[in-house]
Amino acid sequence: MSLAPNQSAVAFPATDAEPIAVVGAGYVGLVTGACLAATGRSVTLIEIDRGRREMIAQGEPPIYEPGLSTMLRRVTDSGALRVSADLIAALESVRMVVLAVGTPPLPDGRADLRALDGVAAMIAEHAAPDTVVVIKSTVPPGTGRRLQRSLDRTANRLHVVNCPEFLREGCAIEDVSNADRFVVGGTDEAAMNRVIAALNPFATSVVRTSNTGAELVKYGSNAFLAMKISFINEIANLCDLVGANIDEVALGMGLDPRICVASMKAGLGYGGSCFPKDVAALEQAARREGLSFWLLRSATEVNEQQRIRFVQKICAAVGGQVEGRTVALLGLAFKPGTDDLRQAPSIAIANRLVELGAIVVAHDPVAMDAARSQIPDVEFAVDPYEAVTGADVVAVVTEWPEYKCLDWSAIASMVHCRIVVDGRNCIDPELLAEHGFDYHGMGRPSVLSLSGHRSVDGAAAVSPERVA
Ligand code: UDX
Repeated sequence: MSLAPNQSAVAFPATDAEPIAVVGAGYVGLVTGACLAATGRSVTLIEIDRGRREMIAQGEPPIYEPGLSTMLRRVTDSGALRVSADLIAALESVRMVVLAVGTPPLPDGRADLRALDGVAAMIAEHAAPDTVVVIKSTVPPGTGRRLQRSLDRTANRLHVVNCPEFLREGCAIEDVSNADRFVVGGTDEAAMNRVIAALNPFATSVVRTSNTGAELVKYGSNAFLAMKISFINEIANLCDLVGANIDEVALGMGLDPRICVASMKAGLGYGGSCFPKDVAALEQAARREGLSFWLLRSATEVNEQQRIRFVQKICAAVGGQVEGRTVALLGLAFKPGTDDLRQAPSIAIANRLVELGAIVVAHDPVAMDAARSQIPDVEFAVDPYEAVTGADVVAVVTEWPEYKCLDWSAIASMVHCRIVVDGRNCIDPELLAEHGFDYHGMGRPSVLSLSGHRSVDGAAAVSPERVA
């Protein structure tokens, strides 16, 4: 990656273990704290929720994240990571405090900065001179500069450095430990160097910019990825209409290094705690400056439509309506590798199917407990085979690896009708056709089995309208 003249791709060896406080034990704070503690740094994790504190203190992560349990147990047993509720006490022993508190969306889409501002006020009052305040939370452009101005009114020379996080759920430890780039934004070079030395022991490319520049790198990255996903989903929707195969089209496009194949998987669209929130917050921020960021509004609208299209495909696949039909829903988490249901397409899809009178039986390897309160009218199965038993249609919502290698020859005699609607294009259509299934994807040509549309007991099921 070529960097601008004032940028540097440097290797920063782990410095002496300057102790660090990390505020907020969510995905970003907990993973960042654990990874830094694993390099030998002394980390105090500040968390206001007692239940989360107690779990972390016992080496048990309050979130599902591959590899985190082992790492957390190691760093809590060694004492490198300690968890506390007392930020004021921590500020006596650290000169660097990382803010990783949540900035959830307000009803109008703006980021809720109350938690961040509350912590900043405590730091302003209790931090020692020359403490560096690192903003790792995702915040609207201008937040770091505003906090710096408010801290400048104290006598303690406190420095605000933005250092956005780019980890993905499900591979958070890998993304923190092997980040593509390390972005620091601030006004004080020495403070920025301290952040690079302390938080970047993984020696990656460093981009130096202003506070606001770092904030825009974060929002711009997430918004661009979300827009890219909505774009390939629109191409997939066109593939459905003109009979092309999105797998081939996306590959043909993605081999151009300017486009690249990453984040080009068509399907149900994006969910999670970041893309939907950050796209809305960036659009709000632009609007406050008088800029109509039309592309972001379109990305959101396309994304919301994908869930509706999927339900329409399910209805069409079973002959036009799902009332009284049994739908097996495979996957609830917003993506594989996590139990996170925030903005997960599964929730809207399951509730809509129930509204339409379907009987929905769901499975997910890890997210079912979290889902029960959000989809109360849905039944839950202990495994995917129980979920599909007697189903009129199998709807794949999350591309968990275990769904890609199910025993479809066995399933063929368990379902009531052999129909699969694949929201993540993760099942092999030819494999399904071999076992007498109809297959419908998202931008993939439908494959209708030679056995037609008969239910397993031989009675002719309602013949479907052919899905476009
Ligand atoms: C995202 C950003 O990738 C990460 O850099 C940022 O720090 C947080 O937000 P995350 O939301 O955890 O990370 O997951 P990601 O793997 O990016 O997927 C986001 C959503 O897009 C998921 O719902 C996923 O299913 C969807 N997606 C992703 C697609 O629909 N197609 C793709 O090709 C990739």
